[in-house]
Amino acid sequence: MPATRLRTYIRGLDEQLQGGVPKSHIILLAGKPGTMKSSVAFSMLYNNAKHEGNGGVYVTLEQSRESLLENMAGLGMDAKGMESKVSVLDLGLIRKKLTQLANKPWLEVFKMYIDNLDKTMDPSILIIDSLPVLEVMAKFEDPRDDLFRLFEWLRELEITTILIAEMEQDSDKFCENGEDFLSDGIVHLDLRRDDRQVNLFLSVVKMRKTAHRRGYYPLIFDEGGFEVVTH
Ligand SMILES: Nc1ncnc2c1ncn2[C@@H]1O[C@H](COP(=O)(O)OP(=O)(O)OP(=O)(O)O)[C@@H](O)[C@H]1O
Ligand SMILES: [Mg+2]
Repeated sequence: MPATRLRTYIRGLDEQLQGGVPKSHIILLAGKPGTMKSSVAFSMLYNNAKHEGNGGVYVTLEQSRESLLENMAGLGMDAKGMESKVSVLDLGLIRKKLTQLANKPWLEVFKMYIDNLDKTMDPSILIIDSLPVLEVMAKFEDPRDDLFRLFEWLRELEITTILIAEMEQDSDKFCENGEDFLSDGIVHLDLRRDDRQVNLFLSVVKMRKTAHRRGYYPLIFDEGGFEVVTH
């Protein structure tokens, strides 16, 4: 029987999630600036490509493609030579498409681009970094309604999707427009400070179709990748 879950490749977390994230789920990965959101998301895509041969698409709307790939290579995730499985597109690439299709709205071009990649490389994971920037680029007029439609389109793709949500420095809200209710899962990355140091914690706040714990667990990164400490 084919696996019904996609591994996160965060050691300790897949065990807690009965093997990983249910396939086709739309997951919000939320955190304040510098909480390793991009790194955690890329690590899931990279490791699925490397170990399972699964294709993945990473849409980076804040950071350029070069800057993201450079950062990830610096963390031991060098995607050189993996272009057929690891597809990273940035605003520059989408803009180029946009000039070819000058009369189309931004979001239509974005969707066409993804639909096309879906057909040609059959990705098992899609990452959008970040959702608030996409909302700005798409010029959502009625965010709740427009988001509902965006989620409907994502669901029809049937690709496991990670939407990166940026939390404000002084707020505990994961998002602004009800994205947390529309999503199938929420993973929260949180930096916590004690007298001596700042540590990163991960919590699975919500995960439909999955029995999971709700605690905050230390998230550590070393050469072998990410690990949550659950004991
Ligand atoms: N082993 C490590 N442990 C903790 N942090 C690390 C480690 N290695 C690198 N970092 C740093 O973590 C920082 C944040 O990583 P990343 O860009 O993934 O976070 P982000 O949440 O996506 O940030 P942003 O809010 O800017 O989008 C980087 O500046 C990176 O240098
Ligand atoms: Mg980032």
